[in-house]
Amino acid sequence: MGLDDFKKNQEKKVIDTNKKVRVGIIGTGWIADAHIASYLRQPDVEIVAGADLIPGKAKAFFEKHGVEGVKTDYASHKEMLADKSLKLDAVSICTYNRQHAQPAIDSLNAGINVLLEKPFTVTLDEAVEVIKAEKASGKILSIGHQPRMDANMKMIKKICQSGQLGQIYYIQTGGGRRRGIPTPYGTSFIEDKTAGLGALGDIGCYSLDMVLNAVGNPKPLTVSGYKSAFFGKDPNYSNYVKTGHPEYASIFGVDDFAAAFIRLEGGIILDFRIAWAMNLDTSGDTIIMGTKGSLRIPSTECWNGTVGGAMTIYHEVCGEQTQTTVPIIKMEENLFDLKIRTFLDAVKEGGTAPVPSSEILYNQAIIDGIARSAEAGKEVEIVIPEI
Ligand SMILES: NC(=O)c1ccc[n+]([C@@H]2O[C@H](COP(=O)([O-])OP(=O)(O)OC[C@H]3O[C@@H](n4cnc5c(N)ncnc54)[C@H](O)[C@@H]3O)[C@@H](O)[C@H]2O)c1
Repeated sequence: MGLDDFKKNQEKKVIDTNKKVRVGIIGTGWIADAHIASYLRQPDVEIVAGADLIPGKAKAFFEKHGVEGVKTDYASHKEMLADKSLKLDAVSICTYNRQHAQPAIDSLNAGINVLLEKPFTVTLDEAVEVIKAEKASGKILSIGHQPRMDANMKMIKKICQSGQLGQIYYIQTGGGRRRGIPTPYGTSFIEDKTAGLGALGDIGCYSLDMVLNAVGNPKPLTVSGYKSAFFGKDPNYSNYVKTGHPEYASIFGVDDFAAAFIRLEGGIILDFRIAWAMNLDTSGDTIIMGTKGSLRIPSTECWNGTVGGAMTIYHEVCGEQTQTTVPIIKMEENLFDLKIRTFLDAVKEGGTAPVPSSEILYNQAIIDGIARSAEAGKEVEIVIPEI
């Protein structure tokens, strides 16, 4: 099977437009724009409600998108969820990180399916509570990792699962940006009270998922982590100066760089680093090393969890060292549309979440472990509670 056939095999579903999904949006900021744009491209969605903590913001959001008849007169997401007249099937939770867990728990407790933006939560304890609510509700909870929809990511998993690399024993992952602290729409990414995590959660969750998902989600055991904020806390950081916001330095309360050495079950070492800002072009490609072959996945310039170019497998043929190039697969569909579409299909069919919380739990446990270890200044154990 060639790569084009592999891509064609990502099956397309026939959409039953007689059965509409009634959707609400919690949090109507930057990423909610992408959610609504994708929902509006689906023929079987009715957007019926929205809520934002900031009065008037949800109303203005739907007006901006030209969507009429949406109820927005709610003081909180809880009021919206309590409005039974809406008959909500699903919500997109597009709130900042520290407001992921509670709205997700409340939505699931109200019997509503949830598409929750990434990172899953801020702490491992929060993720555990959300999964408990999910299990009790029997509803679908999908985490917003759209890079999972990328055929190139599926190819990475296929290569790792095929045995072509032999036994995988060492992984290097991560990436970063030279100057990329995300402040174009305000400070919700950089304040501790809203974000809770910086680069570590924002783009670190993508790097971790790229490899954990590929190698079968091994359990993390221990982590020695590091975090810093040299750029974020500097009033002379070039993007603050360019945008006229040197005051952002004093409210920067998260990390702009994180690194870690993680031991995974099965004897796999995971070497991780991620940056929103650094004096370097890239903090390295993703490398998956195995006893029969190793895979190099080029980093992207603006790290967003996707594949930066053709991948290479380093291996032997007839005792000779050689390389195999795995060309990039061009995606015809928008990854965000696929994230929304696969969620809607799961809601309609009562199927499995496209990005199940169970597959992101270890990702969150590692992020939590890195934060705890960085705080403690020593290696820590990762203990996953029974759910
Ligand atoms: N998947 C992606 O590609 C992607 C890209 C950007 C951001 N994100 C994620 O989306 C989330 C939101 O990011 P953003 O840039 O849109 O932030 P933002 O600050 O622009 O918007 C968040 C909105 O949520 C509202 N809010 C917070 N708590 C609320 C609550 N309990 N009820 C109702 N409204 C509430 C805020 O008032 C704000 O308007 C973050 O977790 C971020 O990591 C994902």
